[in-house]
Amino acid sequence: MRKQIAAANWKMNKTLSEGMSLLNDILSANQTLGSDQHIIFAVPYPYLIPAQNAVSGQQNIAIAAQNCHHKTSGAFTGEVSVDMLESIDIKYVVIGHSERREYFAESNEMLAEKTDLCLAKGITPIFCCGEPLSIREAGTENQYVEQQLNQSLFHLDNQQIEKIVIAYEPIWAIGTGKTATSAQAQEMHAHLRQVIASKYGHETAEKISLLYGGSVKGANASEIFSQPDVDGGLVGGASLVAAEFVQVINGLKS
Ligand code: PGA
Repeated sequence: MRKQIAAANWKMNKTLSEGMSLLNDILSANQTLGSDQHIIFAVPYPYLIPAQNAVSGQQNIAIAAQNCHHKTSGAFTGEVSVDMLESIDIKYVVIGHSERREYFAESNEMLAEKTDLCLAKGITPIFCCGEPLSIREAGTENQYVEQQLNQSLFHLDNQQIEKIVIAYEPIWAIGTGKTATSAQAQEMHAHLRQVIASKYGHETAEKISLLYGGSVKGANASEIFSQPDVDGGLVGGASLVAAEFVQVINGLKS
């Protein structure tokens, strides 16, 4: 089975002590992960090291950064490089979240650079894509998301693309309480897998974990994750409440 992943995206929430108790509450509630089940916590930069320490030695549990810079180093005050993340042993980075695209003007081209830097350092990008409401209403979401993959990922070769985790997050469903139906999620995920298959072949496409994001919570996770092409979720609001996120984790396919 492909990796099934419950990824928490804390965004800009929680103080250090609040974050660490959240993490510990979740860890103490979840003892039994299947061999293909993984939990990832994308925490704010200042908490990466304490969070790494908190999960150290726990199988299939990892800490992710929520972003990285698209250049290797230099005069970019306030930014964090992929080398820095590698130096503290970070294995996953969320790339191209819609909030980064919207508020920080991140382009598909910039995300291609970030992807390359991460892969060169053995860090797995959790690459986010997804359409705004206007595009969904115009019925052109497939082409829109395809273009995001095309411009940021499709320069990769087969071995590289296999290492990417893709998170489909329709913008109209993020933080709105308005989840895509499981059928809508499956439809887009199947389409994305098909697009990847037509470029890289079926075997490669079948290896890539495709996460759904957008108002996933305890009550809807298992229904969404049960879809054949949905391999887990990237979860914002519901990842900030231990009981909710534990239920999300329990919704992963086993
Ligand atoms: P949400 O956020 O679960 O609060 O909708 C998801 C995300 O932005 O990754």
